[in-house]
Amino acid sequence: MKYAGFVDSLAASGTDAWAVHTRALQMKAQGEPVIVLSVGDPDFATPPGVIEACTRAMEAGATKYSGAGGIPVMLEAISMREEERLGVPVPQKNIVVTAGAQNALYVTMRCTLEAGDEVIILAPPYIMFEGVIRACGAVPVTVPLDAANGFAVDLEGLRQAITPQTKAVLLNSPHNPTGAVASPESVEAVLTICRENDLWLYSDEVYADLCYEQPYTSPYTMEGGPDRTVLIRSMSKSHAMSGWRVGWIVGPDQLCVHARNLLNSMQYGGSAFVQHAAAHALNNEGAAEAEMREAYRRRRDIFLQHLSGISGISILRPDAGIFCLMDLSALGVTGKKFSEDLLAAQQVSVLDGGAFDPSLEHHVRIAFCQPEDVLGEGAERIAAFVRGM
Ligand SMILES: Cc1ncc(COP(=O)(O)O)c(C=O)c1O
Repeated sequence: MKYAGFVDSLAASGTDAWAVHTRALQMKAQGEPVIVLSVGDPDFATPPGVIEACTRAMEAGATKYSGAGGIPVMLEAISMREEERLGVPVPQKNIVVTAGAQNALYVTMRCTLEAGDEVIILAPPYIMFEGVIRACGAVPVTVPLDAANGFAVDLEGLRQAITPQTKAVLLNSPHNPTGAVASPESVEAVLTICRENDLWLYSDEVYADLCYEQPYTSPYTMEGGPDRTVLIRSMSKSHAMSGWRVGWIVGPDQLCVHARNLLNSMQYGGSAFVQHAAAHALNNEGAAEAEMREAYRRRRDIFLQHLSGISGISILRPDAGIFCLMDLSALGVTGKKFSEDLLAAQQVSVLDGGAFDPSLEHHVRIAFCQPEDVLGEGAERIAAFVRGM
């Protein structure tokens, strides 16, 4: 049988990176004392109150078709949440509930891009960006972040990358994998570039609820922002709800109309009981959310403390999120070799940075999704491995 031409571009880049992670899980299943620092799936349980709210909703009959784009109780909770976070009005008509941020990215791009359009992504990018852009028939164009300057946006590089085919810029701040938070000035400059060139600004703010020192300033709050900015949001990390598949879009009226129509074709509405639980989480689980955020911050500090002063490696202190990057350039080893050898020698799995982008060939990504004592032990094993190199 024949398949559509675009399917060949769907296999996500970075698949090789997961080889070490997969091996680590196999070793662990065989009883080896493996410490898994390679995956960014929160280790916290979803707050019990969320599970209870889900059960209550199911018992109350929220088990039928729910309509595309979100049930009223969830739209209301998101509207309140975003207004509080952003400090600007976020009406319910400008919100569309999706199956996580990944689905939000696809729906947004499918509704705004034609085949052959270019989307500028800032490298190193989140592994799945390229796949979702290509799934929409568009082409990712990479502009490196300024690594020497804390992975800040290279505004000149961004300007130069714009061609007549450019349709959008995808900004991801707080950033996966570096944990860097873009300054309000650079966000404003990116928005200005988008306005000058009539581009969409997709703003992936999945980690905005996990900022440690400074809150993130979203382009949505800036003059001219709401007309062309599409916020991509998720409950996966902030509420330890990755498996519930809940996220949302905030965008212009007409985009939201198209997005709901597309979601009608794709899923004919999300799960109502999941949305009742998610709305409960947004409305009532602030304490649990803050506890997890504080735990991630402590884990970051512990990890960095254990590895400070180890010669050959350097770590950019992340301002947000659940990851950090370790620079191995001074050791002269690739992230791929380091991650393979580290797993073999010390039973610790980390992710090869080269899988995100060639610029990270000499980096590995570490996720803070383990309790403090396990993370500390993982850091000590990494230190021992580096000392022995
Ligand atoms: C930057 C970024 N965007 C989007 C996603 C997808 O999140 P979700 O689980 O909500 O689909 C992730 C997940 O790791 C991410 O890191």
